[in-house]
Amino acid sequence: MFIMIFDYLRYNNTGVFALPSKRENFGSRLGFVMATVGSAVGLGNVWRFPTVVAENGGGAFVLLYLAMILLIGLPTMIAELTLGRAGSRNIVGVFKNLSPRRQKWWLIGLLPLLATFMVLSFYAVVAGWSILYVASSLLGITAGLSAEGLEELFASLSGSYLYPFMGQIFFIAVTVGIVVVGVRKGIERWVKVLMPGIFILLLVLFVRTLFLDGALEGLVWFFRPDFGGLSVNTALQAVGQVFFSFSLGMGAIITYGSYLARDADIPLNSLYISAADLGVAILSGLIVIPTLFAFGISPQTGPGLIFITLPAIFNTLPWSALWTVIFFTLLTFAALTSAVSLLEVMVAYLIEERNWPRAFSAAGAGFIVFIASIPAALSQGPVKSLRLAGLDFFSFLDFTASNILLPLGGLLIIIFIGWVWGTARAGAEISSGGSPFRWFLPWSVLVRIVVPLAIAYILVSGLFF
Ligand code: PHE
Repeated sequence: MFIMIFDYLRYNNTGVFALPSKRENFGSRLGFVMATVGSAVGLGNVWRFPTVVAENGGGAFVLLYLAMILLIGLPTMIAELTLGRAGSRNIVGVFKNLSPRRQKWWLIGLLPLLATFMVLSFYAVVAGWSILYVASSLLGITAGLSAEGLEELFASLSGSYLYPFMGQIFFIAVTVGIVVVGVRKGIERWVKVLMPGIFILLLVLFVRTLFLDGALEGLVWFFRPDFGGLSVNTALQAVGQVFFSFSLGMGAIITYGSYLARDADIPLNSLYISAADLGVAILSGLIVIPTLFAFGISPQTGPGLIFITLPAIFNTLPWSALWTVIFFTLLTFAALTSAVSLLEVMVAYLIEERNWPRAFSAAGAGFIVFIASIPAALSQGPVKSLRLAGLDFFSFLDFTASNILLPLGGLLIIIFIGWVWGTARAGAEISSGGSPFRWFLPWSVLVRIVVPLAIAYILVSGLFF
């Protein structure tokens, strides 16, 4: 009954579910999957995943990460895409469109908006480093350096007053430029070339890593779980990594879902997106971790880890500068397609809820992100001693956004979908494209009970105990 009334209102486009008259859709099915993969695959996979695996003891963390994907990541991906398509609006408008009258569920959307600012402001710093590495390898600075030499190079580049800003400004400006052009024209075309490119290059690197002396020990460390070292804090890191890497809990997937064509198969697309994201993360881990062992680099190196390990592998190959340039160029592009999806969350909100023009929204949001990214960049060098809750500013932003705001945003979104909007409506939305939703029952049990309880438990115990 409910569903019928709901569908009636939707199809008649009445005020309650006012659908925007003209919304951009993705041009092709592959285009959508690729753009969403573009959002998911980024620094989170190549930079953040190996770093958290190294910091959290290897194999057991990898297993925990896989479990969190199945338990939380995949069901939430399906839920967010569905909510986005049904609500056909930005992160705040989606809730206004779909919640019962006069209830203030749209307030949930403000949390992801805050999270996007925080994530973008340190994301731009790391992407800026990647650009600096393209420049340094073009200038022949990275070639021939030993692992220690590369450690020094990273410290001096990221610690400088000037260079990080150049990388950051360039990165934010290009992101703003793409968002101004619009989702479809701006992203779809690029990602189709880019994603296969980065995957192939990672495969080449992986094969090279296998032949490094001492690499085997690293492989074993990556796969052999040592459950003794696990704690709820590790679980929190794993959940944070799933949300970060899958672009969940912050409106990016909801906003992309709102551009998704009616007949697209949401569960199948979610499966493709998750598999691609996981594949790139595992591949990066399989490259970085064995390299640590081969070159005697500390697993606790922190955010600079891949900027030391990856050039170190390239330096064992002929034409090392060329490899390094190509790799960091591709990594910068992968970061761009993710940053675009982050900025698009804010821009879609400003356009639809505040009636700002697209170009103005993108430039304004970009400017604020730039200001917020200044302390993050400086905290890796000049003001490293400034600490918040025992962390430098960069790590503080990363920890708060990834391990607290994203899971919290995800928890509220999932409660809304499971209990307010309802899994029955979500199920109807999913099958409205023509293909029946075969996993409806297990999915709704996960979304209503397992996911919220798991996130709430891990969040509370990981933070407070
Ligand atoms: N998922 C992206 C990555 O792994 C980052 C991201 C997070 C993008 C949240 C959008 C939203 O790099």
